Amino acid sequence: MKFNHEIVEKNIGLLGIFTVIAISFGGLVQITPLLFQKDTTEPVDGLRPYTALELEGRDIYIREGCYNCHSQMIRPLRAETERYGHYSVAGESVWDHPFQWGSKRTGPDLARVGGRYSDKWHEVHLIDPRAVVPQSNMPGFPWLAENVLDGKLTAQKIEVFRGFGVPYTQEDVDNAQKAVEGKTEMQALIAYLQSLGHALK
Ligand code: HEC
Repeated sequence: MKFNHEIVEKNIGLLGIFTVIAISFGGLVQITPLLFQKDTTEPVDGLRPYTALELEGRDIYIREGCYNCHSQMIRPLRAETERYGHYSVAGESVWDHPFQWGSKRTGPDLARVGGRYSDKWHEVHLIDPRAVVPQSNMPGFPWLAENVLDGKLTAQKIEVFRGFGVPYTQEDVDNAQKAVEGKTEMQALIAYLQSLGHALK
């Protein structure tokens, strides 16, 4: 009996289609359970949503491309946990949209940088990193200290996050603009940095 295997092996198009199907099944078997597991979908105890100011700071973090040099994911390896603290777990970033895990580490991981330095240290460091770390090759971001937030979009941003299932209240939405108006981008970014890793220290 002539077996059909040969047809598939000699036809690059068919081989491609069957390869994709085979890989998709493998992917589904690995990925689907994660969508339903409590460990990966529910917040860890002690997780709280970002405040309005932290949320604005997070947008500045993304805008300035800090993620190009900083990851926010501590791997479960001795060398990492000794340096950065408890390894990151999925339940810490269930309310992060989009999450900032990353893998590029020109600078240190920031997943638990909250509370490691004072606000003043961050301010000096962000304006001119070499003022506090002489060998640093991180660029300065001096304009953050001058740009002032008007908070016009903050309430809308919180509502979008609410739509994603982050437990913000109507009060959070109503007070959003007041909470950030007049603050500098520097203050917002530092508030965000200081909030990182608070749930699982
Ligand atoms: C070109 C790569 C680069 C970019 C972009 C960058 N950093 Fe850094 N960052 C570094 C390096 C390298 C260090 C380590 C030296 C130092 O402390 O300055 C560092 C250190 C830090 C630290 C201290 C971390 C610790 O545990 O000591 C913080 C906080 C930080 N960066 C925040 C930021 C923020 C916020 C942004 C975006 C506004 C940013 N970085 C953008 C490279 C970068």
